Order: sequence, then C-alpha cells, then structure tokens
Amino acid sequence: MMESRGTSPLREGERVALIDDRGKSYYFTLEQGGEFHFHKGVIKHDEVLGKKEGSGVISSSEITCYVFRPLLRDFVMKMPRRTQIIYPKDMGIILIWADVFPGARVLEAGTGSGALTMALLRAVGEKGTVYSYEIREDMAKWAMKNIKRFMGETENLVLKLKDVYEGIEEEGLDRVILDLVRPWDVVDAAARTLTPGGVFLCFVPTVVQVQNVVEALRNQGSYQLVESLEVILRPWNIQGRSVRPFHRMVAHSGFIVTARRTS
Ligand SMILES: C[S@@+](CC[C@H](N)C(=O)[O-])C[C@H]1O[C@@H](n2cnc3c(N)ncnc32)[C@H](O)[C@@H]1O
Repeated sequence: MMESRGTSPLREGERVALIDDRGKSYYFTLEQGGEFHFHKGVIKHDEVLGKKEGSGVISSSEITCYVFRPLLRDFVMKMPRRTQIIYPKDMGIILIWADVFPGARVLEAGTGSGALTMALLRAVGEKGTVYSYEIREDMAKWAMKNIKRFMGETENLVLKLKDVYEGIEEEGLDRVILDLVRPWDVVDAAARTLTPGGVFLCFVPTVVQVQNVVEALRNQGSYQLVESLEVILRPWNIQGRSVRPFHRMVAHSGFIVTARRTS
C-alpha cells in the first residue's frame, strides 16, 4: 500500500510548521541535531524527526506544541517573495472558475513568485502540464526556488523566460491564466491557441483593467460567457463569547475575469 503524506514520518530537510499552545505558527527546516529557539523554550529537531505530522512535542519550557507539514496556503504566505502573489482565497476560485482539471495543458503568465504556479501544478497533476512564462530571469529563478522548496522536483512544469505579449508558442491549450498588467494584449494570442470550450482567465487589481479586458474579450469575437468577480473572504473569531468577524482582513486583492473560447 502506498504511504500517504500524513503517515510518512517527518524527515531531515523538510520544512515544518510548529503550532504553540496559543495556535501561533512558527516555521523551520528539520536538521539532525538542530534546535528551534522561541519564547516558549527550545524544540530539539531530533524530537520531531521520525514523527508523524500532527504529533505533539514538548518544549524545554514544558509547553506542548504540534508539528505539521505546512499547507500550500501557509507556505505561499510565508515564502520569500518579490512580487505580489495570488492569495489563497483567489487561488481556490481560480482553480474552479478556470476549471483546471487533472491532465490539463495550462499556460500561465507571469510566474512571479510561483504561488499560483504551485496550485496549478497540483491541479493538473502528473499527466498535465503547466507552461509558465516569465519575462524576468531573476523572478523565474526565485519562483523555481520556492516551487522546489515546497514541491520538490516537478516534471509537469515548463518554465519559459518569455514575454507573453509577443505570443504563445504552445498550441491546443485547455486554459490560459494571466496575472500581469495588460491581459487584454494576450486576448488574441489566447484565442488562437485555446481549444474550443477552453477557458481564458485573468487576475487584475483594478476595475479599469477589468473594463479593458472585458471589452477586448467581447470585441475579439472568439469568446462567450465573459464574467467578472471579486472574492471576499471574511474569517471569524470563535472564542467564548467573542463570536465575531476578525478585526482585520484582506479587504482587496483583485478581480477575476473569465471567458470561454467558442469553436
Ligand atoms: C504579479 S506577478 C505574478 C505573481 C504570481 N501569479 C504569483 O502568484 O506568485 C507578475 C509577474 O509577471 C511578470 N510579467 C510581466 N509582464 C510579463 C510578460 N509580458 N510576459 C511574461 N511575464 C511577465 C512580472 O515580471 C512578474 O513577475
């Protein structure tokens, strides 16, 4: 029987999230003989190595903490980044609104810090391919570093140092997903490569950009079902009588525009 991620023991080199008695998270990479020092004492890495995730470990100050592998949403919010990233709240909707399925051939641009790329790689699975275009070499290297750290080696990613405004090389794509300033300049190229029924999706931070891309999609003549939306996520605090929304939230990230390619 295949070992699931949950039952496989935590190994050297893996990144773990340590959750303290107040639910606060701390992240570190496991090394033999290593120690993690924080205000609740010291956690010896050797006490964590070989344990299953979800296990309790006791700090030198006798505080019980728990260790987990970070979830993708935790990892992307903590990873080093040099660009704005797609937030987990938008990633979830992007995967479903663009209907990214196992085996899909997806073009993404730009790669940025690689946050959305990781969600796409998981969704297309081993039989699919994500072609990710990035214009800046330093960003492409940065993204690869993040992706490798979270996912290890990925055979379903083709990262290209390329300007998507100059065209798309791949033919017969199922999905085109854009997170850059002028998605309307990719509407024609996407129409040429998308398969009938394929989905165009872009993420843009301002409503002026939404208007431009919606007009471009409607005028292009090869798209139907042009839709625009915004995702608002409001987390709640449930603690005794304090049952209320959090005081702070991400009030705005961006808008998502989708369209379907006609035949
Ligand atoms: C907002 S970031 C993308 C963030 C990414 N979605 C993530 O979740 O980490 C935009 C990226 O697009 C790249 N970019 C801008 N214009 C581009 C173009 N014409 N072709 C390819 N990449 C481009 C930028 O260098 C930048 O890294």
